[in-house]
Amino acid sequence: MPQSNQTTSRLEDLLSKHLDGRKCWQARRHLLDSKDLTNAEIDCVMALTAEFKTFRSKHLPPLDVLTGKTIANVFYENSTRTRSSFELAAKSLGSTVLNFDVANSSVSKGETILDTARTLASMDIDCLVQRHSSSGSCHQLAQTLGDLLHFVNAGDGWNAHPTQALLDAFSMLEVLGSLKGAKIAIVGDITHSRVARSNIWLLQKLGAEVHVAGPTTLIPAGLDKLGVHVHYDLEPAVKNSDIIMTLRLQLERQKQGLLPSIGEYKKLYRIDHKCLSLAKPKVKVMHPGPLNRGIEITSDLADDPNLSLIETQVKNGVAVRMAVFYLLLSGN
Ligand code: CP
Repeated sequence: MPQSNQTTSRLEDLLSKHLDGRKCWQARRHLLDSKDLTNAEIDCVMALTAEFKTFRSKHLPPLDVLTGKTIANVFYENSTRTRSSFELAAKSLGSTVLNFDVANSSVSKGETILDTARTLASMDIDCLVQRHSSSGSCHQLAQTLGDLLHFVNAGDGWNAHPTQALLDAFSMLEVLGSLKGAKIAIVGDITHSRVARSNIWLLQKLGAEVHVAGPTTLIPAGLDKLGVHVHYDLEPAVKNSDIIMTLRLQLERQKQGLLPSIGEYKKLYRIDHKCLSLAKPKVKVMHPGPLNRGIEITSDLADDPNLSLIETQVKNGVAVRMAVFYLLLSGN
């Protein structure tokens, strides 16, 4: 049997053990937020991601499961990891990829996101992956044009970044085996972080105990009502934690008066080797990227192969996005 067929039949065998999740994915047209996913759907993504990670590690030719499909990457905000990994994921499954060049498009002449998406739909695009600074923009597209296209949210404002949360959960599961009862500390600017929001929803669904720590000005009110443990000091969040995820400090927040000074922030919230002594002995450190080296994390910790999962997160990003495309687009 050709390699591609062997892989596809292995994937279908795997999904036959996750029938509830498979059925939910077959009924789903879009991935907009981790909040919407059932545990059965998450299990499907995790199982397929492991297979796709193995497939990628073998440097084999692309699969042909999405041959004839076209996926458009439409990024109104800059990206290194997310845009590249969506492209690699789509190509690894045999899809054609259009990397829409927002800066040189008619967006500069006032074309709306709806008109851009409608225009691409007229060119028989199957799936549009969008990143935009406006929270809810991908939901709006899905509501209006959802019958024409599949939509995948690659980050909308402060709201959601579901594939980041899925790749983070997969990276944690590789280390911990299960997230039930695991203590996960998320440190930094929670208010403006779509990564934090999507992780909070997903990690709690998987049974983790989520703690956040950061300055009062960067933690939104009401998180405790969602079952999140809120700390304004680093120590209680990090103490006995299994995973510490630190977030990029958006430096413009200082100009907005939300931070006393970068120096003060580093003193109180920067993750370094010393603060890990409070955590569990096998603790791992994560960061969604891009990094401000030396601000939210010391450079030597970010690069420490025994403690940092940062490169693993990036690697897993391709496999998790392959799983999402496979579940949304294959067989539809
Ligand atoms: N984690 C993340 O979204 O990184 P990029 O902005 O580089 O895509």
